[in-house]
Amino acid sequence: MHLHLSTWQEIESYLLRSKGILIPTGSTEQHGPNGLIGTDAICPTAIASHAALETDLLVGPTLALGTAQFNLKFPGTISLRPSTLMSVVEDYVLSLASQGFQRFYFINGHGGNLAPLRSAFQEIYTRYSLSVNESAVPRCRLRSWWQYPQTNALRQSLYAEKEGAHATPSEVAMAQYAFPEHIKDVSLGTWHPVSLEYLRNHADDDHYEASDHRRRHPDGRIGSDPSLANPEDGQRLLETAAKELLLDYQAFLEEE
Ligand code: NI
Repeated sequence: MHLHLSTWQEIESYLLRSKGILIPTGSTEQHGPNGLIGTDAICPTAIASHAALETDLLVGPTLALGTAQFNLKFPGTISLRPSTLMSVVEDYVLSLASQGFQRFYFINGHGGNLAPLRSAFQEIYTRYSLSVNESAVPRCRLRSWWQYPQTNALRQSLYAEKEGAHATPSEVAMAQYAFPEHIKDVSLGTWHPVSLEYLRNHADDDHYEASDHRRRHPDGRIGSDPSLANPEDGQRLLETAAKELLLDYQAFLEEE
């Protein structure tokens, strides 16, 4: 069930059955020579939609714009400022919380969103903590799809060190499965690995400014070899992630 494809009456009766909602979050940014600019939004949206096929759960509108300032020197990238993303998330949650939603599960496709999303959650909790009436306080959970243990193990087994950190074969594969008519037939240059130290220093897209970023990663990839991507891998990754998402979402709904 998708919120944007429902009527208000359908949402009203859904609220009698569940107080939870699944929210895909992504980014609109370059994804290397063969990756779609929408990759980070496409992947979590496809995972959430797959999970919603079998279960009575509600998927909210995808937040397709994220914080991606480091990719702004690549044409087509659109970045929100971290403070803008925080405001959008707060308004998204507080709107639905005012109608009775209580559990907000963010299924994320972009590392750069993690810090602003977590800060937005704390802003929301602070409003309730400072208020006299703390009834029906919403709870938020944040998971990036590649964090799920089986999904993570699968991408490692498929691509090992060629998974890299950006424009990864696993995300490109999943977008290929979701949009086979947009698979790009381009030849990629040599694979350039990045050091473990680099990965540590720039975990969760903690990158410097955009000119520096484009100079370091001229074709947009970070240590990845997305020429390995194929839609069959994408299907396996998507179905594995959707299964793990469902279990984790259920546990979140049932949490004390
Ligand atoms: Ni990505």
